[in-house]
Amino acid sequence: MTNTTKMWQEILEQPSVLERCKSSSEAVILNIVEHLKKQHIESVVIAARGTSDHAGVYAKYIIEYALEIPVALAAPSIFTTYGKHLNMKNCLVIGISQSGKAADVLEVIKSANSCGATTVSITNDTQSPLATESRFHLFCNAGLEKSVAATKTFTSQLYLIALLVAAWSGNETMEKELSLIPKNITKVILTSAEHIKNKAERYLYMNECFILTRGMNYSIALEAALKIQETSYVRAKAYSVSDFHHGPFAMIEKDMPVFVYAPQGPALKDIIEMINKLKECQAEIIVISNSKEVLEMGNCSFEIPQTDNDMISPFYNVVIAQMFACNLSLTKGLNPDCPRGLNKVTITK
Ligand code: AGP
Repeated sequence: MTNTTKMWQEILEQPSVLERCKSSSEAVILNIVEHLKKQHIESVVIAARGTSDHAGVYAKYIIEYALEIPVALAAPSIFTTYGKHLNMKNCLVIGISQSGKAADVLEVIKSANSCGATTVSITNDTQSPLATESRFHLFCNAGLEKSVAATKTFTSQLYLIALLVAAWSGNETMEKELSLIPKNITKVILTSAEHIKNKAERYLYMNECFILTRGMNYSIALEAALKIQETSYVRAKAYSVSDFHHGPFAMIEKDMPVFVYAPQGPALKDIIEMINKLKECQAEIIVISNSKEVLEMGNCSFEIPQTDNDMISPFYNVVIAQMFACNLSLTKGLNPDCPRGLNKVTITK
């Protein structure tokens, strides 16, 4: 059966979306970096909701790693529900919203502007309130996203964040690796689409699962859980393996599906330790990795392209998650484009 969903079409568009997003943002990224280098940025604050919040988690990890500047995720309710203002004078404040209409994120940006902070928004609408309110705007340039389940807007948000961080930190190796991502995503789609479709059937009756990893891919575990929740109504929960040891592990029982993102890189040793612990409990382990040995540890496994750079592997891991969620939804007889009880734009104040 051909996958005719909007979600699938939008997953396939991602390589060209990223190429477009990169070329249309080069000039503004140079402007932002020029400005940031003149400022004494002491910390970064990020405000976002839903999928955009997961892009914010990725941003936290890569900014802290590449620039060694502390990053905090904002609690927008402090600004809206409680009507407070924070002193963000020497901060870079980033608001992320696909629609650019997130009302509470907008309040954080307004508050930041009023105290002289540098504000940057990342949206897929150049005319949106967030795009026009912030000092700098990074445009996803993803085209209209029709499926409620966000895919191409998320990867373009990640790409803009990574391109900005590479330019800000002057990391030319990272810039080169980033330029390979669109082609490698095409490779992921071509080599894994059929395999994922077939394997999704194995999880037809899955009602709950865990999604584990550590480090930069934690953002992808969160996003994978959200994709599976909204497309397939499965109670999916994401954890860093370091937290999972501290209590949640007690929920593991025989045959419990556990997705483990285990790319080569600094976090792999800890992730393998968790896989071994899960095997002892006879959990059903679904491994996503680029290490042959680790792939063999799973009851089911999905391979991603070679890299040992944790700033890069999230792009491949998330495409596996999107393809899996879309196929699982169809296998369960659902429509991933129109999840029950959801609208495309959700505005919280
Ligand atoms: C994504 O799959 C979800 N449907 C949801 O997180 C969505 O991306 C979000 O609500 C969009 O809000 P935003 O426009 O402020 O980013």
